[in-house]
Amino acid sequence: MSEQSPRILAIIGQGYVGLPLAMAAVDAGWTVIGVDNFEAKVAQINSGSSPVEDISDSQLKAALLKGLYKATHDFSTVSQASVVTICVPTPLDDKREPDLALLRSAAKGIAPFVSDETLIVSESTSYPGTLRDIIIPIVKELKPEASKNIYFASAPERVNPGDPVWNQKNTPRLIGSIDDASQAKALAFYESICDAAVSVSTPEVAEAAKLLENTFRLVNIALINEFTQLCATSGINVNEVIDAASSKPYGFMPFRPGVGVGGHCIPVDPLYLTWWARQNGETAEFVESADSINHQMPKYVAKRALSMVDSSIKTPKVLILGVAYKPGVGDVRETPVTELRDHLVAQGADVAWHDPLVPTWEGSKPVDLGWDCDVAILATKQPGMDVEKLISKGIRILDCTNSIKNLTGVTSL
Ligand SMILES: NC(=O)c1ccc[n+]([C@@H]2O[C@H](COP(=O)([O-])OP(=O)(O)OC[C@H]3O[C@@H](n4cnc5c(N)ncnc54)[C@H](O)[C@@H]3O)[C@@H](O)[C@H]2O)c1
Repeated sequence: MSEQSPRILAIIGQGYVGLPLAMAAVDAGWTVIGVDNFEAKVAQINSGSSPVEDISDSQLKAALLKGLYKATHDFSTVSQASVVTICVPTPLDDKREPDLALLRSAAKGIAPFVSDETLIVSESTSYPGTLRDIIIPIVKELKPEASKNIYFASAPERVNPGDPVWNQKNTPRLIGSIDDASQAKALAFYESICDAAVSVSTPEVAEAAKLLENTFRLVNIALINEFTQLCATSGINVNEVIDAASSKPYGFMPFRPGVGVGGHCIPVDPLYLTWWARQNGETAEFVESADSINHQMPKYVAKRALSMVDSSIKTPKVLILGVAYKPGVGDVRETPVTELRDHLVAQGADVAWHDPLVPTWEGSKPVDLGWDCDVAILATKQPGMDVEKLISKGIRILDCTNSIKNLTGVTSL
């Protein structure tokens, strides 16, 4: 298989996806240029301070010192690369529809500097057709005339930040390209940095598979969140039910209830799917319903927590434990805890929060566990969070994480 030469990779976007990819490529013998348009982040990275939990400062410093990696905001450096991967955010706009402005600007940024025989891969999550209908036309229009042969593939990133087991290297990578030559080059590239690359017939299959993976999670989380409410009405502990169902060795997969869904992927990607369906004259009813159930969860959690407070207390003091969207990371993007806090405040509560991995959140600072409260909500169980200290003080806790079992004063969702 034809590997790209020289072994210089340019990665557009140095965030949760781009920086771990850079380090994986350095480990595999590539020299990496990390392009990011956020100058402060570029400076931080080049000073050896990693902005993402999955990459340690020492790993980053080693790559910088060896001269195998450098961050820059200068797009012209792309001309040195034989492979360019796009890893920029694909968020929702204020109508909760796909916002591809950053992806378009990344394509426009690289296009004038793409050398002949370069492979361009989109790793950003988006709806089927994004590579073919958005990225390729931009690059073809703006590329240098001398760059006759450009190869294009889609290889949606599957990284799970904070995961101690699955990472860039050992997670199989889906690859779908616009033609056989692009596919051969993309497979050779990913086989040089990952343990396994899985070939699919088109970029659209790869793009759709990514949406399916994350929508699968969204709808199963919604199912269990709805099921939790049904069980709670009858005094049944849903986590015991899930444990019981999990004893079936086939055909069941456990999902746990929680405050809702957060992060840049699970709450967002399925709405790329629902939007795409509408463009094709269809409605993804099941997915829309799942989205709506998950969005009702913060209100339900607020109601459950306030029901644990003595009704004579007019302004209940509520401490939220963990505001990041999942344990082990300080990432608060799309965290459902924002809606939880808003519902609590709307119902007259005085709300404070504590999260050892989040120094500031929406303009506020955390309190320590000594903050005097009437009830605490364990929203995200962060490592290093001393929940036992609260329990020993006799504070009632609503545990939304299924991490505290059989302790007096702790109620499970
Ligand atoms: N975070 C995850 O767990 C995860 C997992 C799988 C897939 N994805 C997908 O990967 C993509 C990137 O997500 P992320 O979490 O790494 O985002 P991020 O916000 O952590 O990082 C993106 C970086 O891109 C930079 N950027 C934005 N626009 C740019 C541009 N036009 N040119 C250069 N740099 C630009 C930003 O400054 C930022 O540093 C998204 O499509 C996301 O859905 C994310």
